[in-house]
Amino acid sequence: MTGVDTALIQAAYIIAAILFILSLAGLSKHETAKDGNVLGMIGMGVALVATLWLALRGAAWGNAVGIAVAMAIGAVIGIWRARRVEMTGMPELIAMLHSFVGAAAVLVGFNTFLASGSGAGEGGGDGVHLVEIFLGVFIGAVTFTGSIVAFLKLSARISSKPLMLPARHWLNLAAVVVSFGLLVWFVASHSIVPLGFMTAIALAFGWHLVASIGGGDMPVVVSMLNSYSGWAAAAAGFMLGNDLLIVTGALVGSSGAYLSYIMCKAMNRSFVSVIAGGFGSDGAVSDVDVDYGEHRETNAEEVADLLTHAGSVVITPGYGMAVAQAQYPVAELTAKLREKGVDVRFGIHPVAGRLPGHMNVLLAEARVPYDIVLEMDEINDDFPGTDVVLVIGANDTVNPSAAEDPTSPIAGMPVLQVWNAKDVVVFKRSMNAGYAGVQNPLFFRDNSAMLFGDAKERVEDIIKAL
Ligand code: TAP
Repeated sequence: MTGVDTALIQAAYIIAAILFILSLAGLSKHETAKDGNVLGMIGMGVALVATLWLALRGAAWGNAVGIAVAMAIGAVIGIWRARRVEMTGMPELIAMLHSFVGAAAVLVGFNTFLASGSGAGEGGGDGVHLVEIFLGVFIGAVTFTGSIVAFLKLSARISSKPLMLPARHWLNLAAVVVSFGLLVWFVASHSIVPLGFMTAIALAFGWHLVASIGGGDMPVVVSMLNSYSGWAAAAAGFMLGNDLLIVTGALVGSSGAYLSYIMCKAMNRSFVSVIAGGFGSDGAVSDVDVDYGEHRETNAEEVADLLTHAGSVVITPGYGMAVAQAQYPVAELTAKLREKGVDVRFGIHPVAGRLPGHMNVLLAEARVPYDIVLEMDEINDDFPGTDVVLVIGANDTVNPSAAEDPTSPIAGMPVLQVWNAKDVVVFKRSMNAGYAGVQNPLFFRDNSAMLFGDAKERVEDIIKAL
């Protein structure tokens, strides 16, 4: 490869890295999120072309063809999955994609080790390189199985309840200590045996770490695995000597870690306790069987009447709005009420739905104006002066027991204090608990009424009745 080629590839890598940074900056605001996505896609396009170019100029035609075929197959599968996925299936798809990054880091690690001739004490790799390989495989393996458990929990293929093995924190600690011992053995011996042992331990460790986290803490797990997948990619970058992969991995790793921190703050959880596998969540008990009394039912006509006479309405959407795809009739209802002079606003909980920003995406899709969509902290003080709150498919995020019952599994999590409004209408299909498996005393309050059925159908009924 000539000096010009190297310079071109370095330039392409720098441009791609800058585009990724601009993409992250764009994604931080509603108004610029689409542009952020486009910049990220262009950056990835530049990175892919440069990588293929690198393989081509290295005169390894076989490699280049192999990469091109792999890219084409990957692109076809990616486009097919992305076109088919429902908005409600996005979190599990993302968890699955994180597992691929983890698996890739493990494979790159083993491949780098075997290809560098480091095995069997031949001494081909220096100590630092071996540490890189070991850490890359460790992070990759934890990310791989952790993401698979997250996928299974998010898609309800396994229970979202935390796995409570006896002495589980000691098991986690033992996994880390033994892995450190294996690292010392690996660097001293250049043998594949400790690498293999550590991989098995790290796979079990990743599985256990996520399995022991309860449903309410899953948002943090998703962003934490996002972060791990970034570090796994960065580790692969070190092993392959690819600067762009290091930079990209570090961007994903650090932004994911920051997002996890923000989520923990929003949910009043300790960052360290969540990443250490739910440490400290032992005392929580589920209250599904507690008798909260009778609930009151309402119908679309009554709600339409209530809304017609209201001066101010707040809508708090949750996961059920995503399931029902009710955002379009909700946007239409909002427009109708605003035409009638009703002050309509939205209150968004930071972990409503199953993805960071899930509700914001749905409302933006349905063209609800940004300026009436408020964060939880911006709207919580306004509930006492609100006439009607429409809780559309939200449950855990409006659960008063988080604020009032210290034994609740979601105790301490800040919630939308909708019960302080004059009237609350809850749209859901049954009296079932929310994602965290906790019953919601809101449904039994005197100022609450249940509007049962699919959220989309019920909102459409209200529009007809208005
Ligand atoms: P959830 O607590 O998940 O409750 C959603 C409610 O929607 C359910 O009680 C369900 O009741 C109702 N529902 C489902 N389909 C419906 C439909 N078609 N029509 C009407 N209602 C429907 O919702 P939330 O308040 O948004 O809370 C989110 C939860 O997910 C939190 O516990 C959060 O920690 C967790 N979580 C969040 C994330 C992120 S990053 N946001 C990631 C993972 C987990 P019925 O079955 O009775 O209808």
